[in-house]
Amino acid sequence: MWALCSQPFANNLLLQNFKLRFRLKSLPFQTQVKMVSSGADRPLDPPTNPKVTKLQELVNESSADGWEKSWEQRVTPWDLGQPTPVILHLLQTGSLPKGRALIPGCGSVCPTLGYDVVAIASPERYVVGLDIADNAIMKAREISSSRPNADYFTFLKADFFTWQPRELFDLIFDYTFFCAIEPGLRSSWARCVRDLLKPDGELITLMFPISDHKGGPPYKASLADYEEVLHPMGFEAISVIDNELAVGPRKGREKLGRWKRSLKQSLM
Ligand SMILES: C[S@@+](CC[C@H](N)C(=O)[O-])C[C@H]1O[C@@H](n2cnc3c(N)ncnc32)[C@H](O)[C@@H]1O
Repeated sequence: MWALCSQPFANNLLLQNFKLRFRLKSLPFQTQVKMVSSGADRPLDPPTNPKVTKLQELVNESSADGWEKSWEQRVTPWDLGQPTPVILHLLQTGSLPKGRALIPGCGSVCPTLGYDVVAIASPERYVVGLDIADNAIMKAREISSSRPNADYFTFLKADFFTWQPRELFDLIFDYTFFCAIEPGLRSSWARCVRDLLKPDGELITLMFPISDHKGGPPYKASLADYEEVLHPMGFEAISVIDNELAVGPRKGREKLGRWKRSLKQSLM
């Protein structure tokens, strides 16, 4: 399930990912990854991580409050302890849209490495990190305010399902937010994504965990689960690939999906 990373483990993963990126750098992205046609299921994962069990207890008792408590009590088993390697890869290869970007359910920031919000922010890309948990947002702000690129990102405490920004986004990146919310909320998630993106904006989903387990969070996800809620909103996948840069135990259980709305449907 969500892997818990100690700092030395995270450093080791960083090194491995660096080596992998170095090996892959000379290849075009399409040859580095395998095209897939559907959400291939894997065997059920044994519930081995006690922090995941604790998180489920907290969140299933009371959703918004539960996430707050998980941050307070440092029950954050999803935490990679580093920016997401595949997003860094898209950044480095110039294939990440510029403009205004939103990362819903962004979590927090690691003191030494930053996380996705900080990693992709630049003069060309203003990034909003949104999270419902005060603790996550306060910690993220505290740690990131002295970053050299601090003018190009912000962390906001808000509920993704009710938040109404003044300006729409060119990019939404979802990683471990879709699987964190109850499956019954997935249609609302897709509607919010549609309403928050500019008509020609792009949604990037790092789909995880592609598995067959029961319950959550994290709730199981498949390509079909995304299609089921995104197709009615006019989104079509422009590419779906296995994420070969997935970290440690997530390998083989992640797919990177890039989605856009077709002009015909978005005018409806
Ligand atoms: C599994 S964590 C993922 C954090 C981050 N994306 C990562 O990969 O490290 C899910 C996050 O979603 C946040 N969250 C849950 N419900 C939310 C909502 N309705 N609106 C905004 N954030 C929410 C939680 O507080 C939590 O930080």
